[in-house]
Amino acid sequence: MRAAGRPEAQLTAALANNRRLAQQYLALQELERKPLARELHDELGQYLSVIKLGAMGIRDDRRGERAAAQTRAAAIVENCNHIHGAVTSLIRELRPAGLAELALAAALEHCVQTWRTRLPSVTLRWSVTGDFTSLPEEIALTAYRRAQAALTNIAKHAAARHVDIHLGRTGTPGQPDNIVTVAVEDDGVGSAASQPTPGLGLIGIRERVEALWGELSIRSALGDGYQLTARIPVQSRNGSTS
Ligand SMILES: Nc1ncnc2c1ncn2[C@@H]1O[C@H](COP(=O)(O)OP(=O)(O)OP(=O)(O)O)[C@@H](O)[C@H]1O
Ligand SMILES: [Mg+2]
Repeated sequence: MRAAGRPEAQLTAALANNRRLAQQYLALQELERKPLARELHDELGQYLSVIKLGAMGIRDDRRGERAAAQTRAAAIVENCNHIHGAVTSLIRELRPAGLAELALAAALEHCVQTWRTRLPSVTLRWSVTGDFTSLPEEIALTAYRRAQAALTNIAKHAAARHVDIHLGRTGTPGQPDNIVTVAVEDDGVGSAASQPTPGLGLIGIRERVEALWGELSIRSALGDGYQLTARIPVQSRNGSTS
């Protein structure tokens, strides 16, 4: 019998897959927007209200006392400084410091340094092999974000004492083995492989790596640490490795 209906079945499956991906994309977008909205509300909205109140106080002060106006103006300057700092750190979140000016290796080292101060009880070991200049920006950004997400997970879930972060690039431009690797390994509580994923973090990591024809592998067992490795081939614009 002819396999009647198979193309339709394939089309239905492809459409269902598309719908699932679109839903995951929207959920990820929400996940990224939420902390930004919170930050904008807490760091900008509230401070702007205080600045406005201070300025209105100066404007409406009938007595025109110079000392009082100076105190209010000083508070406004202080609040403006706070907003300036908050905006700078928001911009850094959206666009990691140094990724444009420094190569990926230097930017990631800077990120590891930041995590050392956030997690003083954890020993973070950093190693790098290869040359990361002339790396397409989307690969650099994806590799950077993957390491950042892995470190966030370690802070949240691992209770680790040691973490190894390795960034590597094999091969040379023009060769098919030109691959960027980001590996983050900890000696924390680990996780059972069969455990369902409650968060969207790992889904987001996998999708972004796979969107660049890369692969993500996770090795973990309860009580035996967690190892996350992303491998991304360096592609040229026409899709071949460069
Ligand atoms: N380094 C780690 N050590 C132990 N368990 C981990 C580690 N990284 C991830 N996990 C486990 O994998 C699960 C899925 O991680 P994922 O990043 O997808 O979600 P999440 O961190 O719980 O939430 P989200 O990232 O959405 O804020 C975690 O809930 C945790 O149980
Ligand atoms: Mg997470």
